[in-house]
Amino acid sequence: MFRGFVLGVVATIIVILVLGFAAVQLGLIPVNADASPGRLETWAAGTALDAALRREAQGSNPVELTDDNLVAGVKLYGRYCAVCHGTAKGVSAASPVAKGLYPRPPQFATHGVEDDPESFSFWKIKHGIRWTGMPSWESALNDQQIWTLALFLKHMDKLPSAAQEVWQTVTN
Ligand code: HEC
Repeated sequence: MFRGFVLGVVATIIVILVLGFAAVQLGLIPVNADASPGRLETWAAGTALDAALRREAQGSNPVELTDDNLVAGVKLYGRYCAVCHGTAKGVSAASPVAKGLYPRPPQFATHGVEDDPESFSFWKIKHGIRWTGMPSWESALNDQQIWTLALFLKHMDKLPSAAQEVWQTVTN
């Protein structure tokens, strides 16, 4: 009786593996980017990311909140990020790259991350986000530059006029 049960479990696992393998080989897994992520996919990726951030994203921003540092953050953003995350115009001016990515990158002037701890933004910028178009910037930017970007993202809805002026000139 126990032997039968074990064989049943093993047979079920084998059938699932064979079906999974067949689905991959026969082209039944959706691989197109012109779609919106489904609920299961969004839940699994989002929950995994949140859990990893809670475990790994630490530290407070060593870059001081000054006009100069915010301007530096805007400039870095304009150079490296605006193509995907947009300008001061937000969603209405999303670039062709942003419109075609799966999942879509948030346009920060519309859907900002001011609520997120800066350590979370730092982690995401440094390491990137797997299964999305969000690159890791570790090889292009140093920690100081990444914290400067995190500072700008934290304060982008309440920029002092010096930084606001530069922000209005950023194009994608
Ligand atoms: C090639 C496109 C691309 C570029 C360039 C890019 N990102 Fe992203 N980024 C994405 C995508 C796509 C996501 C959404 C990931 C997701 O859905 O979880 C994302 C997510 C993020 C998030 C998390 C947003 C949230 O709502 O939690 C932050 C923060 C971020 N990016 C910052 C940056 C910064 C700063 C730069 C520039 C140094 C940058 N990104 C450059 C594509 C890009």
